Order: sequence, then structure tokens, then C-alpha cells
Amino acid sequence: MVHQVRGSSVDWAAVREDFPVLDQQVHGHPLIYFDNAATTQKPRAVLEALRSYYEHDNANVHRGLHELSSRATEAYEGARATVAQYIGAASAEEIVFTRGTTESINLVAQAWGGKFLRADDVILLTEMEHHSNLVPWQLLAERIGAQLRFVPVGDDGTLVLEQLDQLLTPEVKLFAFTHVSNSLGTINPVAEFCRKARSVGAVTLVDAAQGAGHLPIDVQEFGCDFLAFSGHKMCGPTGSGALYGRAEILNAMPPWHGGGEMIVSVTLEKSAFKKAPHRFEAGTPNIAGAIGLAAAIDYIEQIGRPAIFEHDARLTSYTLERFAELPGMRVLGPSGERGAIVGFVMDAAHPHDLTTFADRRGLALRGGHHCNQPLMRRFGLPGTTRASFYFYNTTEEIDRMIDILRDAARFFA
Ligand code: ALA
Repeated sequence: MVHQVRGSSVDWAAVREDFPVLDQQVHGHPLIYFDNAATTQKPRAVLEALRSYYEHDNANVHRGLHELSSRATEAYEGARATVAQYIGAASAEEIVFTRGTTESINLVAQAWGGKFLRADDVILLTEMEHHSNLVPWQLLAERIGAQLRFVPVGDDGTLVLEQLDQLLTPEVKLFAFTHVSNSLGTINPVAEFCRKARSVGAVTLVDAAQGAGHLPIDVQEFGCDFLAFSGHKMCGPTGSGALYGRAEILNAMPPWHGGGEMIVSVTLEKSAFKKAPHRFEAGTPNIAGAIGLAAAIDYIEQIGRPAIFEHDARLTSYTLERFAELPGMRVLGPSGERGAIVGFVMDAAHPHDLTTFADRRGLALRGGHHCNQPLMRRFGLPGTTRASFYFYNTTEEIDRMIDILRDAARFFA
């Protein structure tokens, strides 16, 4: 893997070569993969880590007193330490492996929310939450009689921060919000939100699904209690991901799934449970997924998140600049700093038709509500078309997208 050339600048063309899937034709055109907010592609280093684990070390963790099991356990627990370091956790015990962001948030809603929230407590969310940071709270609120409250989104795609102080009343027991909006690209001021929430005694949960692979994250600098993210949106395998929880808070939570691996003793009537994080990992975990996620982290760290974010910013601002040339375009989200996500509507075409038109030309976009129906309603839209980038994308690909969208504008008009 060749990344660094001339000091700190990255050889992005060499980076791209690490992703075999990008080198293909789709419907007779070179693939342009702009659906990275849905899932990113995987570099050879991750594919190789998965293959090597299955070829050489595959065994169950924590159970067997044999060599392969020791190796698998070492790799699995090593992956936990890698994740902890990546997000600035105080220790590996603060990392629970999950299937991804959705499962992490459901874990908190059921285990923490089920124990610590009561009827009439308020769960504060924002209007820009993805369904995975909305539906678990709706289910919990319905079950225990808690209330949901929302920080509104302004027309510019940022949260209406002036209202935050009025909304953060002492009844708020949890403030759960996204780091980077999957539809608008908005980057929220996480540390400020956490500080404000703490001042009223509210626990905080950060949905870092769209941030974790793109921006430096330090949970201690954020000052959050929980942070959730997915491996597959940052070069890792699907079905991998993690929940960070402050050790004190994780150890105060009851288990949520029962089974093997999470107990210290079991009688026919009753069980005693391990400490966090193992008490939240019942059954055989996704060992290969954790190993693949750690390989993805090692890969990302070799490039460096500041360089990745700079690259994101370059591609995004170039896209916004070039979109101005196209007729009937409405772009959602902030005009200033944003993540590598550009959601838009073209007057001439429904997002589904536009996305299908693009696909026939080898361009993978996402069209629809992006698991964000309330936000689409907020903007009076059935959905948008979304281009989302990662560090292997290029400005040449954006030029090609502009040509395709120009053709689409003519075709649908
Ligand atoms: N959260 C994923 C997306 O935004 C599924 O596409």
C-alpha cells in the first residue's frame, strides 16, 4: 500500500488502486460509485485480513483452550483495543462490538433506557435523525410512556441552535443526535451539545455512522456518554460496528441479550453476568467482522482522517460549484462546511427516475428518502437524489456526473 508521497500529501490514485471493486464497467460504462453514505467499498487490506483469519485462525473466542481459539481471541480483543484507540476511549472495556449503528442504538434504548427512563421523562432528538436514531426511541417511549422532543432543522439544513436551551429542560434525560446528517451533510457541534446536555444532567448519545470514517473523533473531547458507528461505512465489513459507552454507565446497565459468553455463572433459575463489554455480547460474536473492522481502521489511519476530511471537502465544494451550472437544481444542506454528502432535487425528474437514469450510465447514486422520512417531509419533498463521496473518488468522476445530470435534465424535460 503506497499512500504518503512528498511529506504529508497523499497519493490518492494509489489509494484508489487498493479497491478492486472500483475497476469495473457497469452497463458498459466505468463505474462511478457515489453511494458511500450507504456503504463504502473495501480495500484489499480488509479483504486480506478476513481471508487470513478464515484461512489460518478461525475458531470461537473466549471458549477453547486450544491454539486457534487463543489466536482468534487475541485478534478479537486486539480489534477492540484498536477501536478504542481510534475514537479516543479511555479503555477497550468501553467498546461493545455490535452489528452496527442501528444495533448499538437499540442496545442503549433497551438496556439503558429500559432501566433508567420513566414515564414522562423526555428524550431529546433532532429533526435530522436517520430512522436508526429515531425508531428505537419511539419504541421505548411507547413502552414506558416517555416523551420525544425534537430540535428543529432550519431551511439551511443546520439545527436551530437558538432553541436548544429552551428544549434542554431538566426533564430531558437523554439527548441523542447525529454527528453528520446522512441526507444534508450537516456536521453538528458535538462537544457543545454534550456540554449543554451535561449541564441539565442529560446523558448523550452520538450517532457517528456518517462521521466515523471521515473525521477525527475523540469521545473524551466530545464528552459524550455513548457513541455508535458502523464498520461498513468506513471500509469495514457489513455486520460490524461498535457502541462506545463510558465504563461507569455501561457497567450500570443490565444485559439486553442473554446467552453464552456473557455470563459468569448460571443455575437453572438464575444467572450472574460478566462486566461490560462482554455482558452485551451474548453468543458467538462476529469475530471476522471485528478483525475486518480493525483492519479498516489501520488502513484509514495510514491515510489519516484530517487528509480524508480535506479530500471530502474538496470533492463536496467542487460538486456544489459545478451543480450551479445545471438547470433546476435545488441542493439541500449547509453552504459552508459539510460532510461528503450532497442531496439534491432536479426539477425535471423524480429522484428514483434520476437515479435509474444515472445507473444506466454506470453512476451509483442513492434516490429516495434515505431512511429519513420526517426530514424529507420537513423540506416538503418525497425524497432526494444523493451523491456521497469517499477518499477514492475523484473530481473527474464528478465531471462525469455533471455530464450525466445535464443529459438527464434534457431527457426528462
Ligand atoms: N444510513 C444509510 C444511508 O444513509 C443506509 O444510506
